[in-house]
Amino acid sequence: MFKYPKVNYIGNKEKIAKWICDQFPSDAKTLFDAFSGGCSLSYEAKFKGFEVYTNDILKINYHIAKALIQNNSTVLSKEDVETIFSGEPFEGFMFKNYSEVFFFPEECKELDLYRANIEKLDSEIKKSIAFALMRRTMIRKMPYSRFNINWEKIKQLRDEEYSYEKYKRKRAYHNESFKHHFLQNVNDYNNAIFNNSKNNVAYNDDIFNLLDHVKADIIYLDPPYTGTMNNYFGFYGLIDDYISMSKTAPFQNNFIDRKTVSSLFDKLFSKLSNFKYWYLSYNNSSFPTKDELLYLLNKYSSNVKVVERKHNYKITGKERKEVNKEYLFIVENQFKEENKERKYATTEL
Ligand SMILES: C[S@@+](CC[C@H](N)C(=O)[O-])C[C@H]1O[C@@H](n2cnc3c(N)ncnc32)[C@H](O)[C@@H]1O
Repeated sequence: MFKYPKVNYIGNKEKIAKWICDQFPSDAKTLFDAFSGGCSLSYEAKFKGFEVYTNDILKINYHIAKALIQNNSTVLSKEDVETIFSGEPFEGFMFKNYSEVFFFPEECKELDLYRANIEKLDSEIKKSIAFALMRRTMIRKMPYSRFNINWEKIKQLRDEEYSYEKYKRKRAYHNESFKHHFLQNVNDYNNAIFNNSKNNVAYNDDIFNLLDHVKADIIYLDPPYTGTMNNYFGFYGLIDDYISMSKTAPFQNNFIDRKTVSSLFDKLFSKLSNFKYWYLSYNNSSFPTKDELLYLLNKYSSNVKVVERKHNYKITGKERKEVNKEYLFIVENQFKEENKERKYATTEL
């Protein structure tokens, strides 16, 4: 039995991936996970035998998808791991840009070395597995597991005495080495890789650039939930900088702005004619509301239903678990020609 490894992606669907896949119709064979994030849903769908296409605008998520979904058999060997961790740390891009921003200077020098060594691996898939694992190690060393915390706070929370006094947790794992965390996870990642005999493909683009090119029976939509903690560029943009060794720009169409999100959804729905079934995840504490989304979806199909269940998002750093109702909108596409490319910006709710 293959097991999805520890990815720790904010807003992931790991706990409800099976429930979502159980709703898929039996005549569907291919699935496009349009906002694939940490790939929890894609992994379950791959396991169920779907041919899976993934997409996410962040580079790191593309590498996770390449490693776990597109990849059928390549794993990292002991020699590959030795390659990544050999040599002397040096003052490179991370040292110059992120010392005492997210990591201590010595740690940045190590990251620079490992990044350069990943380039020496002999296949692109191996590089993707290595990036997915480096992400895991960087996240483990980072308080709250995201890269929009200021340095003073990071230092404070990485101070084990302070953390113990204040929160009764030492968080010693933040101070373990990158190599320690990498070695702790490499077997789980390797063992998670399997072949479902399908031609699974990972994409890395703004979803609005792909909808005319990718075709599948099902499109699964799990966009950032507007109004909740959802700044994915803020959370993980640093890892994209690490991969490209350059500062990447924040992305557009990010589903952050409450004022424009309804027309963004309308624009999205107007471009889904390539897909017979649409599955949209959303919850009861985000915008647009369930009724507004139903209104928008009904413009394109009269066959829309919503199933719901409780889902707890554990927000790292908060003791309390937020109790949410999770919605799954299920649409059978009856694309009305007159709605194609209609003026979504003028929609009145
Ligand atoms: C809620 S998360 C997806 C979580 C995923 N289903 C999982 O289980 O890990 C939303 C994702 O949408 C991505 N995203 C945001 N805007 C995008 C856009 N315009 N095009 C493609 N991906 C986008 C973010 O990078 C983020 O990974």
